[in-house]
Amino acid sequence: MADLHVIILAAGKGTRMKSALPKVLHRVGGLPMIAHVMASADALHPRSITAVVGHQGESLKEALSVHTGLTFVVQEPQLGTAHALLTTEPALRRASGTIVVLSGDVPLLSPKTLKTLIDRHQSTGAAATVVTAMVDDPAGYGRIVRSGEKIARIVEDRDATEEERAVREINSGIYAFAVAGLFDALRKIAAENAQREYYLPDVIALYRTEGRGVETVIVSNADEIRGINSRAELAAVSRIVRQNKNTELMAAGVTIEDPATTYVDPLVTIGADTVLHPGVSIEGRTTIGGACEIHSGVRIVDSRIGDRVTVNNHCVISESSLSNDSKIGPFAHLRGGATVSEGARVGNFVELKKTTLGPGSKAMHLTYLGDAEIGSKVNIGAGTITCNYDGVSKQKTTIEDGAFIGSDTQLIAPVTVGKGAYVGSGTTIRENVPPGALAVSAGKQRNFDDWVAKKKKRS
Ligand code: UD1
Ligand code: CA
Repeated sequence: MADLHVIILAAGKGTRMKSALPKVLHRVGGLPMIAHVMASADALHPRSITAVVGHQGESLKEALSVHTGLTFVVQEPQLGTAHALLTTEPALRRASGTIVVLSGDVPLLSPKTLKTLIDRHQSTGAAATVVTAMVDDPAGYGRIVRSGEKIARIVEDRDATEEERAVREINSGIYAFAVAGLFDALRKIAAENAQREYYLPDVIALYRTEGRGVETVIVSNADEIRGINSRAELAAVSRIVRQNKNTELMAAGVTIEDPATTYVDPLVTIGADTVLHPGVSIEGRTTIGGACEIHSGVRIVDSRIGDRVTVNNHCVISESSLSNDSKIGPFAHLRGGATVSEGARVGNFVELKKTTLGPGSKAMHLTYLGDAEIGSKVNIGAGTITCNYDGVSKQKTTIEDGAFIGSDTQLIAPVTVGKGAYVGSGTTIRENVPPGALAVSAGKQRNFDDWVAKKKKRS
């Protein structure tokens, strides 16, 4: 948007979080709070975006490194929100038009509300426009004090009188300002308050006494402007994000048996008629097809699941893919590039890492398959282990179509079991098995008659 500049305030210490991590890097819906704010800023296509960061600015810069064209300004020490905005003056020296101020700790603000803010601000020609909300519990927020219809000033919770505290209209900490005169006004703000800080909301009273226009936009959904200052507020906002996602999924035809215990990150997609049982977590950039059944206790991260897939209880799946009509679990672990092809089955206590299990193949019990390429219609017996690590590097195991691997087999990689070959139970495979061959490695069985009775007599 022409002549629009966004500033994100994110330098505060976040003392109330009691955390070594900067507050705005705590995650909401799988993403750092500030990433949500950045997304809202990006949606406006402003001429510039400036983030005000504090002493832990390096970790913030790293977290936001995907955003090119973002300017960082360091505020040190942090003397309040007005002081934070003032530190951007050199970066915005040539700016004109409108500045939108966002708070790094208010992650749910919608682009729609921001557009309403900008429209109101520009159409009224105001010097400042504040986003406000009516809430049932205004504790902790700045209160909007009006004289008649018009906003007169904003008073912080700690500085408010009993009467002011009863006001239910709060300041969201989101504003639009005309660039003209803003920084001069900020310099006039004093730190005469309970926290000895320079408060940005004080600019409202200043503009009113100077006779400059100040407008408000009252959001209809107060959830949008919830700020996060503590772990309890972090949990409360995260719950809203989850509820919104679950509502969206259900509207699109996904069955969620218990939305209260279902955790689906915002970027996840799920097809119609898939059923999510209670207590599942689906995270990151996961996609799930239609008509799948995801049972309780499952965690899926950054993975691709096809249609009609069953994931039984207590599976952990990360960076992996499951094709149509495959079935896994209970208690399976798929990670680091595991691929389960169409109609393949993975049973209980089976781990797959960087392994492809071909169409219709099965690994049903107590098995580790790492760095393996397994063809179609292969049967992997219980207790099969690919010994893929020689202490230095990872080696590959190849099992061709239709092979049968007997229970309790160890495959010392690199090794290939040929097409249709059989491996007897309890075999240690150290050399390639030709197609169609039978491989056995255990010695001949010996029985010692009456051994037990003789042993008892001796002792
Ligand atoms: C602020 C507002 C309050 C509003 C609330 C909405 C002030 C004084 N009060 O209160 O009216 O209801 O937000 O959520 O502005 N920050 C800096 N540098 C600083 C101090 C803060 O960059 O020196 C940043 C913080 O990182 C944060 C934002 O500014 O992202 C707001 O600061 P915070 O301390 O959380 O203010 P609140 O007490 O929540
Ligand atoms: Ca805050």
